[in-house]
Amino acid sequence: MKNGAAGTAAVPKLGVGLAYQDALGPFILDAPPALDFVEIVPDIVWTDLGPGAEPRYVEDPAAIAFLERVRRQRPVIPHGIGLSIGTAHSFNLDQLDQLARWHDRLEFPWHSEHLSYNVAEHIDGGELNVGVTMPLPYDWETLELLAGRVAEVRRRVPALLLLENNVYYFDLPEAELEEPDFLNQLSELSGCHLLLDLHNLYVNSRNHGLDPTEFLERLELERVVELHLGGGLEYDGWYLDSHSGATPEPVWELLEWALPRCPNVGGMVFELLGSWYEPLGPERLTAELERMKAAGSGISRPRSRWRDPDCIPGGARAAAGRRRFPRRGAGAGRAGSRRGPDGTRAAARRRGGVGRRARDHADAARRLAAQQGAPDEMTCALLGHERLARELRDFWRTRTPRSLYFREEAIAFCDHLRERARSTLRLVYLEEVVGFERATLELRAPWAPNPPRPQEV
Ligand SMILES: [Fe+2]
Repeated sequence: MKNGAAGTAAVPKLGVGLAYQDALGPFILDAPPALDFVEIVPDIVWTDLGPGAEPRYVEDPAAIAFLERVRRQRPVIPHGIGLSIGTAHSFNLDQLDQLARWHDRLEFPWHSEHLSYNVAEHIDGGELNVGVTMPLPYDWETLELLAGRVAEVRRRVPALLLLENNVYYFDLPEAELEEPDFLNQLSELSGCHLLLDLHNLYVNSRNHGLDPTEFLERLELERVVELHLGGGLEYDGWYLDSHSGATPEPVWELLEWALPRCPNVGGMVFELLGSWYEPLGPERLTAELERMKAAGSGISRPRSRWRDPDCIPGGARAAAGRRRFPRRGAGAGRAGSRRGPDGTRAAARRRGGVGRRARDHADAARRLAAQQGAPDEMTCALLGHERLARELRDFWRTRTPRSLYFREEAIAFCDHLRERARSTLRLVYLEEVVGFERATLELRAPWAPNPPRPQEV
């Protein structure tokens, strides 16, 4: 039997949900009729004090009281961002136990995580949270890593685990599978289910010139339990997954195509950043939920208590994590869904296996941080990645590393580079390029007087 295949048929139908943000609290408590459930990123209502702290997770009492109040009206579903399930060098089991405590409290039928990582090894041996959901390499070694992680999550948290297709702004090299095949293999081999974010798919399609319908045609849609919708904006030649407005029409078209083909969908959620609630307004937000309700009229209200029938307490599921993947040509997958891996596991071990993967992650994290924050692409091109890494290392020696995703730190790094450009790092145009990119960062900062506007607001 495929791992976890039995669980899907019993998925409860929750209906239409809204992703919680502080600014949306009053809207949620007003209980609009189209709103059936609420999704929350649990990481935003607790503070992780780190390994060894007791308690490790300190919850915000006001936020918890709000959640319990909401829970009396409608289901609350966790949608985590901090587990970092794809981090190669470590896995935070304490967070799983924290999620299990949340399950005791909220009794959610499923929970979800981003299929990504945001924790990487730092150069000094510690850990670096890069602040964004980094894309994972689509290869067999990553699948094996994830299968063990999924088994551990399912062993500790008695609810379906959904993993969400990620947004990526650049591809990691050496992929052995394409994204839909990777997701199919992941759900089949690990027993996880899928959270299909149609706006993420739209973002990737626009930025990388992909055909979203072909993606959907190749995806095993019966594994999809939840759908995400949202809006974005164009900026600097990119289309961003900024959760900054109404769902674009092409995404509605994807929903229209996908929904009848997703027999096990239990809910669909609209994602909106709190800072964009005011520009959108409560009427447009209500209209968004009502349109989702009309589109998913087959998704109705929930049953009260529900557990993942595949979740067997104790160690039985540990075996799932030790499952070995077939070598090239073994042909254990569905016809058309499996591509032969370019390298065997033995080859992966020769290359350094998970240790090498951890180093790749750290390197890729630095590269993405550099691309998304400062310096930008032109600075990367001028310096090259190795020199850029050296500059980052020097910069972080003088201050506590956070992530270049944070504007203040990114701007400070620009200042560091400009100073270096004036003294020892004499590269033609470096000072000008960094100055330009610093100005861009200031423009993007939340306090900027004229932030970019979403397309659909
Ligand atoms: Fe999403």
